[in-house]
Amino acid sequence: MEIKKVGVVGCGIMGAGIAQLCAQSGYNVIVSEINDALLQKGLKLIDGALGRQVEKGKMKAEDKSAILGRIKGTTNMADFSAIDIVIEAATEDMNIKKSIFTQLDKYCPPHAILATNTSVLCVAEIAGATKRPEKVLGMHFANPVPVTKILEMIKTIATSEATIADGKSFGASIGKTVVLTKDLPGFISNRIFSSFLLNAVRLVQDGIATPEDIDTVFKLGVGHAMGPLETLDFVGIDTVYRGAKAMYEELHDPQYAPPPLLTRMMALGWLGRKTGKGFYEYKK
Ligand SMILES: NC(=O)c1ccc[n+]([C@@H]2O[C@H](COP(=O)([O-])OP(=O)(O)OC[C@H]3O[C@@H](n4cnc5c(N)ncnc54)[C@H](O)[C@@H]3O)[C@@H](O)[C@H]2O)c1
Repeated sequence: MEIKKVGVVGCGIMGAGIAQLCAQSGYNVIVSEINDALLQKGLKLIDGALGRQVEKGKMKAEDKSAILGRIKGTTNMADFSAIDIVIEAATEDMNIKKSIFTQLDKYCPPHAILATNTSVLCVAEIAGATKRPEKVLGMHFANPVPVTKILEMIKTIATSEATIADGKSFGASIGKTVVLTKDLPGFISNRIFSSFLLNAVRLVQDGIATPEDIDTVFKLGVGHAMGPLETLDFVGIDTVYRGAKAMYEELHDPQYAPPPLLTRMMALGWLGRKTGKGFYEYKK
């Protein structure tokens, strides 16, 4: 199947990155948000990311304008009537995702592939909200999307081979190395990485070390670009919390149980960089 038009649902950290990368790769993109204020905020993220490339001399100003010209924002899912593939990057919440997929199934053309960027949730359950489960798959991008090279592709027990083949060639067309995995909680990356992040939270919670010291150990000792607490703030406390909760509910494995400190940070809205405060403070 030839893919020309890409839809993206959600223009937060991941949706903005996915929309940017697809437009950079030559696709026409429609990105949706809940309301106009959030849409403008998301489009600003893309403008800012491309602007930084221009400032660094890595991109020409006219290329930035051309990329932005290929991205259209909307708050109406009916505008997805001519897309070939849609990547959902909305909040990590099963009910939100199921309701989005029911709408996508209604508005997207019958040939369209529907992908979710969920970090850990059951892709088959999301597919069950549509009448085309054979066209639903997981496309788990890594943050920051325009920079990272990996794309985890999740095949449910209902996803067709044709959908996977189309998904793989789409992934390659946007510069990703695709790895295929089963539809089980956390897939590859988060099945391993979530417990690492949650253990770092437990160390802070129990007063064993400060976020700075834990991060320093992993940056200087293991060669990580970011320590685990910096990563938590970068990814979003809410995304990690919701993902851990869903994995714990399905696997009943205590290593994925959200530590009480994370629950309290969620309650206070300390979601990391996106709200200006998490384990660290950020200037707005
Ligand atoms: N943050 C990461 O590092 C990361 C990495 C890989 C995958 N993910 C996954 O990507 C998805 C998005 O995460 P994020 O970090 O971008 O979160 P985010 O909070 O930055 O953005 C989510 C956006 O979705 C929007 N949204 C919610 N419901 C919507 C709807 N019905 N229609 C349109 N937009 C809607 C919200 O307004 C918000 O702007 C989640 O499933 C998350 O698990 C996140």
